[in-house]
Order: sequence, then structure tokens, then C-alpha cells
Amino acid sequence: MLERYGHGGDLVTASDLFGITADEFVDFSSNMNPFGPPEVVLHVLETKWRELDRYPDPAVRGLRSKLAQRHGIKPDHILCGNGAAELIDLAIRALRPNQGVGLAVPCFGEYADAAHKYGGSVVKVPMFEEDSFRLSAERVLEAASGYDRPGIWMLGSPNNPTGVTVDRDLVLQLLDTGAFVVIDEAFLDFVPNEEAITLIQEATRRPNLLVIRSMTKFYAIPGVRLGYAVGSEETIAQMRGQQTPWSVSSLAQWIGEAVLDEEAYAHRTQRWLAEERAWLTNALGALGCKVFDSITNYLLIKLPDESAIEAAQLQQLMGQRGVLIRDASHFEGLNGRFIRVAVKLRELNERLIQALSECLQQR
Ligand SMILES: Cc1ncc(COP(=O)(O)O)c(C=O)c1O
Repeated sequence: MLERYGHGGDLVTASDLFGITADEFVDFSSNMNPFGPPEVVLHVLETKWRELDRYPDPAVRGLRSKLAQRHGIKPDHILCGNGAAELIDLAIRALRPNQGVGLAVPCFGEYADAAHKYGGSVVKVPMFEEDSFRLSAERVLEAASGYDRPGIWMLGSPNNPTGVTVDRDLVLQLLDTGAFVVIDEAFLDFVPNEEAITLIQEATRRPNLLVIRSMTKFYAIPGVRLGYAVGSEETIAQMRGQQTPWSVSSLAQWIGEAVLDEEAYAHRTQRWLAEERAWLTNALGALGCKVFDSITNYLLIKLPDESAIEAAQLQQLMGQRGVLIRDASHFEGLNGRFIRVAVKLRELNERLIQALSECLQQR
């Protein structure tokens, strides 16, 4: 299966499975900005490569200071990491909740993996198709006050694979219960009014709130690995104490600083996404798929009722055509009727629709 190592975007596994070289795939299984890395990344590589003979700044000062400026906060509230994935792991490792980790499922698999890795249990609050996978405040607050209430909540906003944000008031209510709340905003840069949604400023004022951001998706640099966490100075220091030295490479630091200046790239991405997501949603709907509302760059899809095909089989048929999709049945709480696709540029989206149409008819 394509998700052999737990995630989409695994082109080596895809090549093994489908006998096609990595370059030939159109990859809808991982959610990257389809414009590719901003051109300034090439400039960084060309001009800075000689400096690779030096160690990275162990405190990531330049990048933290730029991020601080961007969000209007102090650098001491920021920890950079080797992708958001490292920060998810570090958050659980540093905070070690003896009461377990609260999750709203379906959600990103690394949350539960991190909890289990550090000996914690997981408390799951289900989200349902009938509610368009919106998190019910009632259900969360009930779990947050129960006998086995979690010490930490780990919530995606927007959540993967559903593309839905967590209600701000609900987060504030959860914080008031005394629980620690980690909000994973890995995909929030894609949203035009993200300043109104992010909890970053709140995280600098609350001792029990941490926000995690990724720079790999929006700037299409997953190979570089870069993310950051924002929290109280105490939480940040606790996490830093558990981090491997130099875990953010020089390359990641230079590229991170450079892409933050790419405002035109950012605006273009946000404008493109709003339009293209609507187009793709319509086209998928015309094939009989049910598409759930998403504010970001991927769509959770339920296969047409009249089609007997299951996600795993569809992934196989699509993969043979060089088109990779995510079999969403690997997310707890979803079954073989669900797939997830990234929104890409029009020509590639048309290829997705064409391949899907052929595969759905094949059965
Ligand atoms: C919700 C979510 N958070 C975090 C990550 C990890 O991102 P990064 O590439 O920055 O480690 C992913 C990757 O797919 C994700 O889907």
C-alpha cells in the first residue's frame, strides 16, 4: 500500500508498487503548494552552498527573529524544528501527559504515534460525517471533564484530512479546564485571513497553549524540513531541552528566512487556491463524489454511493495511471469509502478528474 510508512507523498513506495519512475507521477496524495518552491530557494542554494562547511546557528536566531516579526511576538516564544513533525513529537515528549492525549478523530496519524511512543494513552473524540466532520464542543468538553480526561489535547486546525478549523471559543473553553492544548496549524498559511484564525498570539499569553506551524507545505519544501512552535517561554524552553542539537540545518534556516519575504508568492497561492478548490469541488461533485468543505489545499471525498469501488482499489487503479491519491481509510474513523486529494494546478486537476472518471466507471 502507498501509505506503507504512514503518509502520502511516498514516491519511492509508489515506484515500487506501480513500476513507474518517481518523476512520472502526479502526486495528489501529499498536500504541497503546486507552484513549487519560490525561486529565491534556487538563489539560496547557488549563493550559500560554500557555507555548508559551517555548523548551523544552534539557536536559529535569524529565522526566529523573522518569524517573530511576522507574527508580532518575541523570538523567545518560538522554537524552530525539523518540520512540524518534530515539534509534534517534541511537544508530547516534553510535556509527557500522565493523563493521556486527547484527539478528535479522524486526524493526522502522528498525534497518536507520538502519544504511544512516549507511553501515553489516547482519548478519542469522534467527528461524524453527518456533522461534516466538525468537532462537537459538547463532546469535547464532556471528555475534558470526565474521569479519564486527557492532560493534553492535540487538535489540527485546519484538521487533516477534513480541512476544517477548530472553533476558537472551544479552544478557549478547553484551556479553561486546565488541560494543555496543542493546535497544529500546519496548513493555515493557505487561508487568506489566517491572521484572524491563528492562535499564535494567544499562545504567547497562555501557559497551557502551544501552536505548531509547518513551512514545508505552503512553500513546497518538504525535502528541507522546517516548522516552528509558538508557546509560553517555559514550554518553549522545555521543548528545546529535549531537542537534538542542530536539528534545523543551515539550509533550512537560510531557506526559511528567504521564503518569508516572498509576499507575492503567498498572495498568488491564496488567490489561486480559493478559485481552484471551487473548480475541483464542482468537478468531483459532477462525478457523483461527496466533497466535504475545506478551507485549505486538500479535499476529503466520499466515493459515489452507486460505485462499489473501495478507496484501496481505486488508489491501485489510479496509481497504475500515474495518479497518486490518498486512501483515507487509514485514518481512524473513516472507511474504504473515503479518499483525500490535494488541490493542484488546473491541468493536473483535469488529469485527476479524467483518471477518476475512468476508474469509477471501470467497476
Ligand atoms: C496535519 C499535519 N501536521 C504536521 C505535518 C508534518 O509537517 P512537516 O512536513 O512540517 O513535518 C503534516 C504532514 O503531512 C500534517 O498533515
